[in-house]
Parts: sequence; structure tokens; C-alpha cells
Amino acid sequence: MEGFTKVCHPLVDHSLTVLRDRKTSIVEFRRHTAVLSKILLLEATKGLKVVKKPIETPLSRAEGKELMDKVVVVPVLRAGLAMLFAVQDLVEEAAVGFVGIQRDEETAEAKEYYRKLPPISGSDKVIVLDPMLATGGSLEGTLTALKEEGAQDITLVCIVAAPEGIERIRKNHPEVSLVTAAIDEKLDARKFIVPGLGDFGDRYFGT
Ligand code: PRP
Ligand code: URA
Repeated sequence: MEGFTKVCHPLVDHSLTVLRDRKTSIVEFRRHTAVLSKILLLEATKGLKVVKKPIETPLSRAEGKELMDKVVVVPVLRAGLAMLFAVQDLVEEAAVGFVGIQRDEETAEAKEYYRKLPPISGSDKVIVLDPMLATGGSLEGTLTALKEEGAQDITLVCIVAAPEGIERIRKNHPEVSLVTAAIDEKLDARKFIVPGLGDFGDRYFGT
């Protein structure tokens, strides 16, 4: 894998604990998803290029910096939307594309049901948002869609990742980078992450 980062920070530990707790209310679940998404995005974007930009403060001339790279953010529907709401403030000019992928409840096999992506060039910094990396089927499907549209520089941002999913991405898409807040123990028989946090989409959207 091109780059692999597990973000370590006391605030990450705190927010993760809130998300994992089955007693957490939907309000708190949403709030801590936003906190974690912002922290993870900072890590995922730390290599973005900037150019010098002369500005004037109220007191003098100064040298500022502005973003040079074009960023494309791709939330994987539906749970990835939860992260998009939070990160849009940080990369305010980013184009946003959507890939809809859903796991079959019986087989856990991921199927694409929607795709709406902006034009993507090889130099664009593509950031994929999906809170849960379990078997890796959903993110693999997303990577296939993105590569078909021309993406070459891709970073996946997850909140919780299982070893099985990490290994699948590492093996089949070694040039892709991954940022996560947690690497959990395993998948259970239903392919849910253990200890995990349950069904992210259901808990975030209240379904
Ligand atoms: C969840 C999650 C990931 C996927 C991870 O989505 O948001 O996209 O499962 O599992 P995988 O790595 O085994 O593919 P889900 O299919 O439940 O759909 P949702 O986002 O609509 O809730
Ligand atoms: N999707 C989820 O929301 N949670 C899991 O544990 C696995 C897939």
C-alpha cells in the first residue's frame, strides 16, 4: 500500500469510544462522526501542494499560501455522506462525486447501484470517504469505478477498518493510500467488524 496511517490522538480515542458505545444517542453519534472525520481529513490532505500568495494584513504585506491541487471528494453512499457533511468545510472548493454501493444482507457481497462522478484527471487528489472497511468489497467496487473514470491518486479515509479489508486493498490496489482511526480485531460470521460499532449507516441515519 502506498501509504497507511492509523491516526493516534487522545481526541480520536475519545470520539471512537463514544461511537462504539451502544448507549450513545444519535445526536452524539453524529457529533463525534464529524469530529473524527475532520481529524482524519487533516491527515489525508497533509501532502496537498500549496503556492505562495501575497496578501496584505491590516498591518503589512505578508506571504500567504493557497491550495494548488484539485481535490475530488467521493463519499460512498450511504454511510460516507456522514463524513462528507463534516469535511466540506475544510476542502470547500472540492468537487464531489458519488458512488452508491450496498452490501447484500445475506452474502455481504457489495453491489454498485449508483455512480455520479465529476471529470477526474490523473493528477487530481481523490479522497474516498467510507466509515467502515469490513470485507473491502464496497471500497474495492469504488476503486474500480474511480479508476474507470481516470483517477490515479486515491486516498481512502475510514473510521474503523478490519484486517481482512486492509489486506484486500493492500493486495489488489497497492498504489492506494489509507487513513483510518482504528484497526479492529476481526469480522464475525455476518461480516460485521468486531468489536466495531455496529451498522454505521443505521446508527447515523436513525434507520
Ligand atoms: C457499509 C459501510 C461500507 C460497507 C463496508 O455500507 O458503510 O460501505 O458496509 O463493508 P464491506 O467492506 O464488507 O463492503 P452498507 O452496505 O451497510 O450500506 P449503507 O452505507 O447504505 O448503510
Ligand atoms: N458495515 C457496517 O456498517 N458495519 C460493519 O461492521 C460492517 C459493515
